[in-house]
Parts: sequence; structure tokens; C-alpha cells
Amino acid sequence: NSCAVIAAPFSGGQPKGGVELYKSFFICNITNNLFRGPPRMLEAGLLDMIEGLDWKVEIQHNDFNALEKECKKVVDTRHIKNASFVSKTCQTIHEQIKKHAALGQMILTLGGDHSLGMATVSGTAAVHKNLGVIWVDAHADINTVDSTDTGNLHGCPVSFLTGLTGQVEGFEWLKPCLETNKICFIGLRDVDEPEKKILKENNIKAFSMYHVDKYGISKVVEMCLEYLGKDTPIHLSFDVDALDPSVAPSTGTPVRGGLSFREGHYICEALHESGQLVGIDIMEVNPALALSDEQQIQTINVGCSLARSALGETLL
Ligand code: ARG
Ligand code: MN
Ligand code: MN
Ligand code: MN
Repeated sequence: NSCAVIAAPFSGGQPKGGVELYKSFFICNITNNLFRGPPRMLEAGLLDMIEGLDWKVEIQHNDFNALEKECKKVVDTRHIKNASFVSKTCQTIHEQIKKHAALGQMILTLGGDHSLGMATVSGTAAVHKNLGVIWVDAHADINTVDSTDTGNLHGCPVSFLTGLTGQVEGFEWLKPCLETNKICFIGLRDVDEPEKKILKENNIKAFSMYHVDKYGISKVVEMCLEYLGKDTPIHLSFDVDALDPSVAPSTGTPVRGGLSFREGHYICEALHESGQLVGIDIMEVNPALALSDEQQIQTINVGCSLARSALGETLL
């Protein structure tokens, strides 16, 4: 088994810098004070551990700095922010993922902000017919270009993927690729009013933290798998803000009352065990927002360990 790791240093889908600094996952020679600590060990930890889980690992690096400068010159016609930068970045990542998925590789994408979900899900969906998505998040990220309050595209990827937002200028490459009955949410607790309406009207399967408390995480995952179907290839899009801020503090839009460390890992372990996973996103790890070195290391570590669990690391 071969796993393509797509490094997606990108923060254009939301206003806070830092999620693009994926290098904290990998590289030690970072001069910025924010990145003191053992990133080199983390790098060795993540990639070697994945190899230790019997994967052949291939890394795809990306650098969007030149593209960002170029896109800054484009004035957005809509109130949505950085539309052209988000679209061009996502198109690039989409093509990479499509290529690697077509080779039969498992796809692990390290974000970057969650607007990248447009790229990752559409990329695996292009290869794996009838794809199902499990979207683990405090947020539903299903605002349309009309309903979004903030104009931040990391709050909109699901409406693009499902076509609920209609064709948006500049995103012609992205065609609806996900039926509304092929997505399940887990962990929701900060859903905008228009998003609640969209979820209800389209009868979208969503387990909030209330449901996690009510049924327990194992039952929730079981219900998701049942709903999507046992033969469905599954893409897991994991926004680390689904976790409680005490577990993953260094992220752009933390919301209290989230998943515990174990609940988050259980989701990854159970989905690995299902044998249905074809794509994994670890999104919104933002080392720049930590209030301390501990917070930063804690959040980076949890991103790495979620990925390992989804790739088959077990406790015994
Ligand atoms: N619903 C809010 C918005 O539309 C927050 C979205 C947060 N999304 C995320 N991927 N962290 O802006
Ligand atoms: Mn390659
Ligand atoms: Mn998200
Ligand atoms: Mn979120």
C-alpha cells in the first residue's frame, strides 16, 4: 500500500496567517521563534511512523507564495475573500490528488485551511465513484456564497462540493461531485443560522456534540458507516477544531465543548478499521496561533497522531 502525503501550506480561505506553515510538520531549520521545539522529530515521527505502519510514502510539496502574489492583483468581484487564490490553489491540489488517487494511493492531505476541502474531496471523488464523506468539524462549512457572513471560503467548501452554492465565477473547474446524501458530519456545535436551514432543507446527516454525548462516539461512527453504506469509499475530512480547544488549541476558530482526544482518535481508528478509507484530510492546524510552545507542540502532535490512527496505528 502506498500513501501520497500532500502538503498544502495554504491560508487563503480564512483571515489568520499560519495554517500555511505546514513546515512545522516537517522541517527543523525554521528561524522564527514561533517554531522552536522538536519539529524535526515530529517530521521523522509522522513520516517514519506512517512507513512503520507499512505504507510506502510519497510526499508532494507545495509552495503557493508566487501564486498568492499574482492573485492579490485580482480584485474579487464578490464579497467572498481571496476567491481567485483559493480557486487556483484548490485546482492545483485537486489535480495532484486526482493523479495520486488514480494510482490507487491513499491520500493524506495536511492543511492548510478547510477551503482545501474543495480540492481534496473533489480529487478523490474524481477517481472513487460514489464517494462518501465524513466531515469532522465544529462547523458545517456549508455556507453558500450568498449565506456566508464572513466571506471566508473555509466556511463554504461543502456547498461548493454539493453544488448547493451554484456555479461560482472563477471556480469553473469545480463541478458538483458529492450528493447531499453522501456526507455525514460529526462534532458540530457552531453552525450559522443559514447553515442550519441548509442542513434541514436538504436532510443532511449531521451528528452534533449533543449526539456524540447522547449515543457515544462508537455508535455515531457506526451510524455514519451504516448511512453511507458498507461498500462506499470514504473520505475523512478532519478539521482539528472538532476537537476540544483543550486538546487542539492552536487553530483559527476554536469552539468550546468539542471532541475529546480519544473520541477524535476513535473516529480515525474506526474508519481505518472499516477498510473503506481512500482519503484523509488533517485541516486547520495553525502553529502560529498557539499561546505557548506547549499549545503549539500539542496541536501539531495531535494532527500527526490523528493521521497515524487513520492510517492504521493501533493501541495494541
Ligand atoms: N461558519 C463560519 C464562517 O462561515 C466559520 C467557519 C469555520 N470554518 C473552518 N473551517 N474552521 O466563516
Ligand atoms: Mn508524485
Ligand atoms: Mn472546517
Ligand atoms: Mn471548523
